Amino acid sequence: MNVAVRFACALLAIGALLDHRSGAQSTAPIVKVPPNTNWCLGCICEAISNCNRTLKCEGDVCGLFRITWAYWADAGKLTVNNEDPNSQTAYANCANNEQCAGTTVSNYLKKFAQDCNGDGIVDCNDYAAIHLFGGYGCAKPYTGEYFNKFAACEKQIQSLGTGSHS
Ligand SMILES: *[C@@H]1O[C@H](CO)[C@@H](O)[C@H](O)[C@H]1NC(C)=O
Repeated sequence: MNVAVRFACALLAIGALLDHRSGAQSTAPIVKVPPNTNWCLGCICEAISNCNRTLKCEGDVCGLFRITWAYWADAGKLTVNNEDPNSQTAYANCANNEQCAGTTVSNYLKKFAQDCNGDGIVDCNDYAAIHLFGGYGCAKPYTGEYFNKFAACEKQIQSLGTGSHS
């Protein structure tokens, strides 16, 4: 397999795990794209960690989405195998689990969905900013390594014809 195909397969594999489609949930006069499309979470994952599934906890972040305790708590304290959310290990076990982490990110992005860059559309660029900066202050420039990787991923997915904006 060539690199592009392997790359797309990796993204679609994680997307399939994480795909929980929901209806539009906003009455705001701006267009909202749900964050839980295959390529959106996949490209956030690529940008934040190269979607490295062997990453565990380092400093105050855990797992392939590099989730902090506060992020996990804001997303509803999801747990693996019905673990008590108040358990000392609940956060790390979720953030280090691909599916639990993905659902956590999806929940977080839906909860804090907003037009960070003020272009009238809440799309995956905004979700990428919300993931990096957090839901309480994402109106910052989309520059640097993370956004470069994100943009390259988005471009590659769209050029492969597997991306979807809805
Ligand atoms: C994934 O992360 C581990 C642990 O930090 C590192 O050793 C490994 O080189 C990384 N793999 C890739 C493909 O980046």
